[in-house]
Amino acid sequence: MDEPKRKTVLSAAQTTGILTIGNYLGAIRHWVRLIEDHECFFPLVDMHAITTTPYLPAQLRKNTRSLAAQYIACGLNPQKCTLFIQSHVLGHAELAWILGCMTPVGDLQRMTQFKDKIEKGAPINSGLLFYPVLMAADILLYNADMVPVGEDQKQHLELVRNVAERLNNTYSKTFKVPEPKIPSTASRIMSLQNPGRKMSKSDPNRASYILLTDDPDQIRKKIARAVTDSGREVRPGPDKPGITNLLSIMSGFLEISLEACAARFAGENYSSFKKGVAEVVVDGLGPIRTRYQEIISDPAYLDSVLKAGAEAAQKRAFRMLNKVNRKVGFVERFP
Ligand code: TYM
Repeated sequence: MDEPKRKTVLSAAQTTGILTIGNYLGAIRHWVRLIEDHECFFPLVDMHAITTTPYLPAQLRKNTRSLAAQYIACGLNPQKCTLFIQSHVLGHAELAWILGCMTPVGDLQRMTQFKDKIEKGAPINSGLLFYPVLMAADILLYNADMVPVGEDQKQHLELVRNVAERLNNTYSKTFKVPEPKIPSTASRIMSLQNPGRKMSKSDPNRASYILLTDDPDQIRKKIARAVTDSGREVRPGPDKPGITNLLSIMSGFLEISLEACAARFAGENYSSFKKGVAEVVVDGLGPIRTRYQEIISDPAYLDSVLKAGAEAAQKRAFRMLNKVNRKVGFVERFP
């Protein structure tokens, strides 16, 4: 009997620098598990990264290679999944154009992340508005079944599902409607300085986030300075956003429940709790940091991974792009 076909997974991170533990706990560590028994595509989305303007082209190139090394250091073994640079594969922008022509502007203007950017007064280019359509193209080009992401991407994925359904209904069934996969714990890690806000590497306050490459000393200092709540008890709860966030971080690294983490500090004060959390993070990131240094200092290896990844992804992408071009009425290319 034939083996059942493996399900296809696609997810991505922007090439904007070193990942935070939010990216790792909310997304990347789940991808690592999926590569064992799924067909996985993990683009490095440099075309999304240029929506944040202004940026330095040389820095973007550096960030893109760095992100590839981070993916691998986190455990995304390139023998078991396809790692590639989004701009290396023709089809993402082309499919985004077609999908954009089927997406009402109002749907894009309603996106919370877009509205947040407007509120922050960031310069708004049309790419920022179009950002979720390019995400839809990333996912649908590979006909992904499943998209493992953190909680903040939920709304974007609802839009992606709507876009897929709209094209299927307008022409004929072309895309699978992808399922978002959002983890039940640590799906939204908050800022260490303001537990009401998401942890983000674009936060101007460096004490608000921990990066994958932070050394033990930096990790201990940042967690020692993390905002906590009134009271003394170490327990999760809506009245304890700071403590709950630190418990989520611990729970994410140890893969045990928030309650089990809290139970380890019964009767102890916040200071010894923070020391405990810091050691868990130091232990969790240590091997990633070491591996990252090895990979980033081997450019030939990185090139070979990214070349093979782009070739494999391109084959897939052309297949779907040709199919969609035909469905929407473009004349077939001449051989
Ligand atoms: P990006 O680079 O912002 O984030 C990458 C992944 O990390 C998750 N994440 C978090 N999870 C928990 N707590 C946090 N504080 C936190 N911050 C970020 C995000 O949910 C995401 O899963 N739009 C995407 C990139 C993208 C994409 C795609 C994703 C482009 N095309 C196709 C999936 C499928 C993004 O903003 O990534």
